Amino acid sequence: MDAMEAILTRRSIRKYTRQPVAQKDIDDLLTAAMAAPSANNQQPWHFVVIDDRRILDEIPKFHPYSQMLRDAPVAILVCGDVSLDRGGGMWVQDCAAATENILIAARAKGLGAVWLGVFPREDRYITIREMLGMPEHIVPFSLVSLGFPAEQKAPSTRFNQARVHRNGW
Ligand SMILES: Cc1cc2nc3c(=O)[nH]c(=O)nc-3n(C[C@H](O)[C@H](O)[C@H](O)COP(=O)(O)O)c2cc1C
Repeated sequence: MDAMEAILTRRSIRKYTRQPVAQKDIDDLLTAAMAAPSANNQQPWHFVVIDDRRILDEIPKFHPYSQMLRDAPVAILVCGDVSLDRGGGMWVQDCAAATENILIAARAKGLGAVWLGVFPREDRYITIREMLGMPEHIVPFSLVSLGFPAEQKAPSTRFNQARVHRNGW
């Protein structure tokens, strides 16, 4: 699958088979994440691989849109390291780029994934930070729920010429 096909056919997958995700696949997703661009090439990120069933089951108790984690074999928590941020807050964009790379790589590898919003919701990122014993300068940014897809979704065509401008508004 080439890059355009992976991007254009990526959809949020919230239903998974029981098949576990191999460590090699997780490593590939993390490699894709860390290939993302970042302001000043600061790479202000950390990733927490979560495959502990108790933790995956705990998150939906306070994150209302994360119920699929109860069936997900694994999730990757993308975190910003604000002590490495030299871009005046651009760690947020950096972590978003890393998150999107995980989603596209997952699609290219035949995995299903969905981006779960964490930052800037304090009730979510502070709870996750405390739950996982993370230091204060680490900010949980997004959680990517992963597994082999148990649902298929057609590509969603969103190209909208009305949103395209040239040389001005
Ligand atoms: C910043 C962000 C936060 C999101 N948070 C959630 C979430 O908490 N739970 C969820 O099920 N989907 C979440 N999504 C996925 C969106 O609902 C999904 O991308 C959107 O509906 C478009 O569908 P598609 O991904 O299948 O193209 C989030 C997506 C983004 C970019």
